Amino acid sequence: MELYLHFPFCKKKCAYCDFTSYAGCAEATVFSYLTALKREIAFAGKRFAAERIDTVYLGGGTPSLMSPREIESLFKRLKESFPLYAPTEVSVEVNPESATEEVLCAFRDAGVNRVSMGVQSFFDDNLRSVGRVHDAATARAAARRIAGIFDNFSLDIIVGLPYDTPEFVRAETEEAGELAPHVSVYELTLEEGTPLFGAVDEGRVWLPDDDEVAEYMEIAADALAGKGLERYEVSNFAKPGYECRHNRGYWTREAYVGLGAGAHSLVKNDAEGKPLPAQIRFASPKDVNAYIAGVNCVSGFDDVPRAEMSVLSEGEIRAERIMLGLRTREGIDENLLAGRSAGRAEEFFERGEGRVRLTERGLAVMNSVLVELI
Ligand SMILES: C[S@@+](CC[C@H](N)C(=O)[O-])C[C@H]1O[C@@H](n2cnc3c(N)ncnc32)[C@H](O)[C@@H]1O
Ligand code: SF4
Repeated sequence: MELYLHFPFCKKKCAYCDFTSYAGCAEATVFSYLTALKREIAFAGKRFAAERIDTVYLGGGTPSLMSPREIESLFKRLKESFPLYAPTEVSVEVNPESATEEVLCAFRDAGVNRVSMGVQSFFDDNLRSVGRVHDAATARAAARRIAGIFDNFSLDIIVGLPYDTPEFVRAETEEAGELAPHVSVYELTLEEGTPLFGAVDEGRVWLPDDDEVAEYMEIAADALAGKGLERYEVSNFAKPGYECRHNRGYWTREAYVGLGAGAHSLVKNDAEGKPLPAQIRFASPKDVNAYIAGVNCVSGFDDVPRAEMSVLSEGEIRAERIMLGLRTREGIDENLLAGRSAGRAEEFFERGEGRVRLTERGLAVMNSVLVELI
């Protein structure tokens, strides 16, 4: 089973971000949140005592805003709570301006063995235009600092930012591929309700169109291949052996438990480790105070109030396996498509050894391919 922990606090909210994250929270709120999170960890440790914990991912928000004491205490609670805690991969998300030597060493000492840093762009105009706290020089320095402490780390880049050009995307992805053994390249999603959405809507900011972004993605894939990082999922590139095990688990639909505000879970087994009659997906409230109050008023994992909960049908599970599997280099078992016509999407498939995969071109136009299938 995989474990996800959420730390929903940031120094400042980025203009494009729709994740569960809050800026400007009082220290007391952060303290109450971490206390509730540790309480939920203890509940989860009892509920999932029969499960081996394979991977842990501490995401945000900005987990690098935690103090060394908070980091130590959070991971101590994890190790004490889960009887079968033996993860092969423990990842944490950090931001360039707060990835200090002290914080990185505290993560390493707590058992973290993989770091993922949000660079987003190595171009200051882009960083400023979306309200990032750091500049490119800070990101470069932080990447070198991380490389001195962790062998396994990743950098996030977003393509489709206001000042992107083909030359610039090539240069920044080459730089990322030179610095790190793993790089994630995301196409900018313009999320409704974010400041960036408003600015684009009012014509104050211009963004590259879909064709330009698709071209940037192809440029990024080519630049990273030139640095020895192979595309193993639509947005993820790695040198051999550096693929993210935790994310791989999401794409192959392993069971996972998400702890903290807004975190999602996919649960397949009961407390004895025996399969439930149906798989269940649920999420915690996004609001930090609602989350804290919810955890503090109960005494066991199954009683924690959830914001969403659904029991998955066989049809939904099959659709998810197709959608998630096709994002990866391994693709899906041919039988999953039995009785389903790929229609116009067939030209984007490669078939062989009982598997169906998307071609490079198919990966670039993945969303339209999936619409044909599902
Ligand atoms: C949940 S964020 C947390 C990472 C960290 N707080 C940071 O921003 O550096 C994880 C990654 O999602 C990506 N991301 C966030 N919002 C996005 C958006 N609207 N479109 C595309 N990618 C986005 C960014 O690359 C970011 O590094
Ligand atoms: S730092 Fe990361 S999580 Fe926080 S607002 Fe920016 S993109 Fe979102």
